[in-house]
Parts: sequence; structure tokens; C-alpha cells
Amino acid sequence: MDEDTLDQIAALPKLELHLHIEGGAPPAFIRGLAQEKSVDLSGVFRPDGSYAFRDFVHFLSVYEAATSVLQSPEDYARLVTAVLEESAANGVVYTEAFLSPDFCGGGDVAAWREYLQAMIEAAEAAERANGITLRGIVTCIRHFGPEQAKTAALCAAETAGDWLVGFGMAGDENKGEQKDFAYSFDMAREAGLHLTSHAGEWRGAAEVRRAIDDLGVSRIGHGVRAIEDPALVERLAEDGVVLEVCPGSNVTLGVYPNLAAHPVEKLREKGVRITLSTDDPPFFHTTMRKEYTDLARTFGWDAEVFAEIHKTTLEAAFCTEETRQSVAKRLEIP
Ligand code: ADE
Ligand code: ZN
Repeated sequence: MDEDTLDQIAALPKLELHLHIEGGAPPAFIRGLAQEKSVDLSGVFRPDGSYAFRDFVHFLSVYEAATSVLQSPEDYARLVTAVLEESAANGVVYTEAFLSPDFCGGGDVAAWREYLQAMIEAAEAAERANGITLRGIVTCIRHFGPEQAKTAALCAAETAGDWLVGFGMAGDENKGEQKDFAYSFDMAREAGLHLTSHAGEWRGAAEVRRAIDDLGVSRIGHGVRAIEDPALVERLAEDGVVLEVCPGSNVTLGVYPNLAAHPVEKLREKGVRITLSTDDPPFFHTTMRKEYTDLARTFGWDAEVFAEIHKTTLEAAFCTEETRQSVAKRLEIP
């Protein structure tokens, strides 16, 4: 692919549906907060200043250690400002971020409301300054267990609306079963929230089926290991289930050895509705701009392919119709 085409793709306005807000924290931001609060974060960073982790389970513990310096609504407001500044600098115009009441007030609804309000105000300021729109998805954390998930779901249900638009599950896919979280997903659904769950990142295709059948989600976080079951791939395509694909995350964490071996192109060719995201960009040394240009180089994706992905992403966004229309204008989709 020639440099002009790559430059054109790098410059496209971009949409992201799968970003963990703490996972977007620049390492220098976390180091600064640790210093302010005298928190010892030894082991969290490599000598070059980047986040240090060996594998997925270690990544989750480093993530939680870094998150321990975020201790107030003001800290989260600063985090949202830092994350959206970086996203906007990479051309992102619309983002949905995973927010965790477990980290924001420990599952207490009144405390969560304060964290949420601070994040919304920071997001509104970022929208005025940089033209980027943020919407929130409350996420429960699988390895914290189903009982704690219920408190996250209650926080989500109590604050559901035009800004807090979804409920999901992240964390260690190898812990517990999706059906153990059905109560929480039912509560969120009844509150009018859209649903997504991490599945098929670490466990195989059967886990993707379980997210759909046991939790009733319309989107899957990752879902890429669906490729191992042709009948499931056909079902995803037929039913229009949307995958939140994070290629750079999967390669860095070792789900696939390199981007050429990643199934995103095969899934797309088979008619599965795919969207693109960074997951936890500074942890995985990625940005939306890098994801786009890496995919263009590796699979020869041109502006037409990205336009098709944008259309899918906009349709799959959990926001209101009014927000969808306003974002569409920024993408120049008629
Ligand atoms: N939390 C943050 N990033 C995650 C990932 N890639 N999978 C599961 N949980 C996460
Ligand atoms: Zn994720």
C-alpha cells in the first residue's frame, strides 16, 4: 500500500466502542498521581516507563495496581480528560468507555453517582474543546464474582440514561461462568441498558455462544475465537451480532502471534459485523491511528473497507439516535 493511501487512512475520523477508562491512562499520568498520593507502584512500570506485565493474568493485576491511585471523582475527571485528549489527537470522534463502580466508590450507589457526574462533566468539557463524544458502559468484573457484579448492575440501573448507555462484563474470562452473571445482566436490561460481554478472547467459541445465549448480549467484547467454529461464525453473521475487535490488544497479550495471523479479516469476509478498538491503548502500545494503519498495511484495507466498518460501528453504538445522527455528520456518512 502506498504512503499517500496510508496517510489518508491515518487521517480518517474514527469511532471506538471498546475502551477501558483506566486502561487508557497514560503511564506518566498514573506515576504523577502515585507521587501526589505517596502510593508505591514498584513493579507496575518497566525501566523505560511503560507498563510491565508478562501475560494476561499479570496484566489484570498490574491494571488493578495502577488503578489504585485513582481515589476520588476528581481523579477520574482528570483521567477522562487525559484519555480523551489522547483519543482526539488520534482522530477519534466517538468513544464508548467501560466504567467500573467497583473502582469508583466500591459499588456504593451514592458514591458512584459522584464519580459518574465528575466523568460526565470532564467528557462534556472535552467535547467542547476537541469535538470528541464519550458515552459510558458500566462494566462488572468477572473475577470479582457474581455477587459484586450485582452491585455494579445496580449502580448501572440507577444511572441509566442518555449518557450511561450500556452494561457489560470484563475481567478474567477463565473465572466462573457467564450464566452466573445473568441476574445482573437482566437487571441492566430491565433498566433499558444495551449489553456486551468479554468472551472468546481467552476461552474458545463456546464462550461466545454462552454470552449470547446466557446473557442476551448484542455485542461481544473481542469474540475473535468464534473463528474456530464455522457454524457459530455463520450464526453471528446471520443474527448481526457485533464484535468489538481489538487486534493490537490480542497480539500484545499473545492471543495471536502477529496481526497477519489475527482472524479479523476472515471474520469480516464471512459477513460478521466487526468494529475496531484499542482496549487499553498505552498498555498495548497502540492508538486508534496505529490500529487503522497496521490493518491497512497487513490486510490491504482501503478507505472503502473502513467506511463499511464505520457504518457498522455507528449502527452498533449504544447511544441515542440523536447522538448517532450528530456523530454521523462528523463522519460524513449520508
Ligand atoms: N480489562 C481490561 N482489559 C481487559 C481485557 N482485554 N480483557 C478482559 N478484561 C480487561
Ligand atoms: Zn476489554
